[in-house]
Amino acid sequence: MKILGIETSCDDTSAAVVENGCRILSNVVSSQIRIHKKFNGVVPELASRKHLENINNVIGLALEKTKKIDAVAVTEGPGLIGSLLIGASSALAISQLLGVPVFGINHIEGHIFSNYLYTNKFRENSQPVAPFLALIISGGHTDLIIVKKKGKYEILGRTRDDAVGEAFDKVAKFLGLGYPGGPVIDRLSWKGDPGKIKLPRPYMPWTWDFSFSGLKTAVINYASAHQTRGTYDFKKADLCASFQKACVDVVLRKTIDAANKYRLKRIVLGGGVSSNSLIRILFEQACAAGKIKLHIPPPEFCTDNAAMIAAAAYHKMKVCGHIKKTFVPLPDLELHDWKK
Ligand code: KG4
Ligand code: ZN
Repeated sequence: MKILGIETSCDDTSAAVVENGCRILSNVVSSQIRIHKKFNGVVPELASRKHLENINNVIGLALEKTKKIDAVAVTEGPGLIGSLLIGASSALAISQLLGVPVFGINHIEGHIFSNYLYTNKFRENSQPVAPFLALIISGGHTDLIIVKKKGKYEILGRTRDDAVGEAFDKVAKFLGLGYPGGPVIDRLSWKGDPGKIKLPRPYMPWTWDFSFSGLKTAVINYASAHQTRGTYDFKKADLCASFQKACVDVVLRKTIDAANKYRLKRIVLGGGVSSNSLIRILFEQACAAGKIKLHIPPPEFCTDNAAMIAAAAYHKMKVCGHIKKTFVPLPDLELHDWKK
């Protein structure tokens, strides 16, 4: 079964063809970073206009080598409404035109199912088997979810304010490092000392929820207090490394604690922040020490892509058997259990 996936929830226009929920036949991602960089963040109105300009071309490229598709899948939400609408109307039109079913997929589910994709033979046998604990960390989300089985979720915690990726982006913006902040802070941190500047760790042990805005403010306050006439008396690399370490310590400890508490022996990561090099190293170490199996997608499938949407749709179809004929995209779509 070949599914055409479409993802336009934020600032990447992406289309992909995935076979049987795992084999990637194409995955085209047209990034808008160049446009939003000037504003140090995504401008929703510009994002939807660019999606409209790009979408036909991106879908055309994704379909270049595939003669026939069996279904279309598209991100239904959460995301920017103007951006979601471009993907959804394209998917609904293609479904009508070709007479194939259309699936609306939750973006968070997409990030979970990015772990079912494989790019080479070795990943074939390494798909996560439920139950497992999923940590989805991106620019819009910090969600800790128990996946009891495919399509059956229990949300343990989420962020009460900034998502972890958002904190990376805002700190980078304040320090004049550009957009998106995650990759640049990740790179710069390797040149700094993570123990140099003392920063808070918002563990909040009484809840599985997260909070990153206080940590972000602590970084900004530190930088403001240590500057005179526009120059800082500390190395930006040290502050980035200390901030990154504080973020990783928090998500790592809460995830490992939750896995132990709920006796889950598998952890699955997803979302742009899971491409962070320190997160990957420290999760590998902690999971090996705790005999927990860890799944992290290759970095290009951590950030937004349409292959993960097609993968989720395949598994949803296997479980649900049928799907709604149409849908309206929702910017604040919740994660719902699949119904047969
Ligand atoms: O999943 P994604 O592409 O889009 C959302 O669904 O939000 O994630 C984008 C986020 C941005 O905040 C970006 O700064 C962050 O992921 N990110 C990273 C890294 N690469 C991307 N954060 C930390 N380290 C990275 N290497
Ligand atoms: Zn995402």
